[in-house]
Amino acid sequence: MKGDTSMAENTAGRERIVILDFGGQYKQLIARRVRECNVYSEILPYTTAPEEIQKLSPKGIILTGGPNSVYEEGSPSCDRELFELGIPVLGICYGSQLMAHRLGGRVETAPVSEYGHAEIEAGNTQDAGRSVLFQGVPERSAVWMSHTDYIAQAPEGFVVTAHTDRCPVAAMEDAERKLYAVQFHPEVEHTEYGRQMLRHFVIDVCGCSGDWKMSSFAEEAIRAIREKVGDGKVLLGLSGGVDSSVAAALLSRAVGRQLTCVFVDHGLLRKNEGDEVEAVFGPAGPFDLNFVRVNARERFYLKLAGITDPEMKRKIIGAEFIEVFEEEAKKIGRVDFLAQGTIYPDVVESGTGSGGAVIKSHHNVGGLPERVDFREIIEPLRQLFKDEVRQTGLELGLPEKLVFRQPFPGPGLGVRIVGDITADKVRIVQEADAIFREELEKGGIDTGNGQYFAALTNVRSVGVMGDGRTYDYAVALRGVVTSDFMTAEAAEIPWDVLQTCMRRIIGEVKGVNRVFYDLTSKPPGTIELE
Ligand code: XMP
Repeated sequence: MKGDTSMAENTAGRERIVILDFGGQYKQLIARRVRECNVYSEILPYTTAPEEIQKLSPKGIILTGGPNSVYEEGSPSCDRELFELGIPVLGICYGSQLMAHRLGGRVETAPVSEYGHAEIEAGNTQDAGRSVLFQGVPERSAVWMSHTDYIAQAPEGFVVTAHTDRCPVAAMEDAERKLYAVQFHPEVEHTEYGRQMLRHFVIDVCGCSGDWKMSSFAEEAIRAIREKVGDGKVLLGLSGGVDSSVAAALLSRAVGRQLTCVFVDHGLLRKNEGDEVEAVFGPAGPFDLNFVRVNARERFYLKLAGITDPEMKRKIIGAEFIEVFEEEAKKIGRVDFLAQGTIYPDVVESGTGSGGAVIKSHHNVGGLPERVDFREIIEPLRQLFKDEVRQTGLELGLPEKLVFRQPFPGPGLGVRIVGDITADKVRIVQEADAIFREELEKGGIDTGNGQYFAALTNVRSVGVMGDGRTYDYAVALRGVVTSDFMTAEAAEIPWDVLQTCMRRIIGEVKGVNRVFYDLTSKPPGTIELE
């Protein structure tokens, strides 16, 4: 059987808030905000049945926004029973309209959408007391709106606790039944007091104690892994990236030598990277595990010889990676668990929230689960956001350099060398990249805001060095500032830093006589050159 262990079972008994996902773009932000209150939160699809939710014994439920109208055919809905479980519910945007609609209020469609800043006036509740949600919030405050439909009339039993010029029910509540709704988005920064409002819901309405801490995560996870794995064998594909490294550290602390990490060095890593990974996870490092480093560069170069098409290169690298990994796995024999460094955004992005057997097709281990003989998948970081993964890594004693590593594509330098790949071109790009990164560090440039690297253009041009004519390659330096890697702007690197890089690269890296700085934003460019 190839099952999934989300490890959710190990979190039973933990205080939690369930976030029901109705398709809104801010669901992860809501989850974050709740976790910032030191309360564990989990996003589930809106189709989760009330009984299933009840089994988790959440302290509260939050309904997210969503792009639909409650009147549209097939629009996401929820069972009325959800509001009768006795569990506090907070509806946000679409979630608030759904609450109103399901409980007999009236939702209407406005002729024009309201999008952006608005000011709410938070009034008192019927008994002249201040709504719990708005404790300490001034009477007028800025909120972020994004809606077309609005609640025209609150359901029976509800009081309107806030309104704006254009929105008669910006917030409503039935404190007795612990049902709360806000039309605006408390989770976004633009809502001035949004954090407080969510905190009031989570702590004051739901009665959470707020004792969940990231530091308890590692301990809890280690215990849970031990319980699950027993005396079984675990196999992990280690790429040297943050997620798989933290997974390796955690698994090693939990089961020691029952863990084997296979690190495939495809010869397309950055300068010294293979050795750096080995220094941490190899026999000389602080972790107890079986570390297998496969130096497979020749195999990869051979397969890639003469291939110029970027997608073809990606495919070859991916397929060869699996080949190599599979061969190593066979040498180990049967394993009980295949571990993966899947993190929470991967899970949510694949649209399942939780529960289902989602195996992220990791960039560099895609297809692996079908090829290795194992009993179950184990994904110890499945509940964590990236910064939480980093924090866990630091707690487990991983070096900062590794924990704060920039994202690096699975196919590595393969997509940073335009055109065909040769050992010599890899050398050039590795050397140039190392110099670039070194100079950025010396110049005190913050590289945590995006990606900074050198690539090799396929351009050769004429130059003059000393008294001789050269005909060598041009290196492209690329620095982008981005938060989501979907869009990016070229980084404004100080001229003197770029000048130093240019001088050093041409002077120290044989085969280079020109250095470009890539000014292209994304779109229209991509971050990688290929
Ligand atoms: P692009 O070049 O598409 O890159 O703007 C966006 C982000 O994705 C990374 N990237 C990849 N990661 N396999 C990966 O694992 C790939 O084939 C790949 N191509 C691009 C890139 O480094 C950037 O972070």
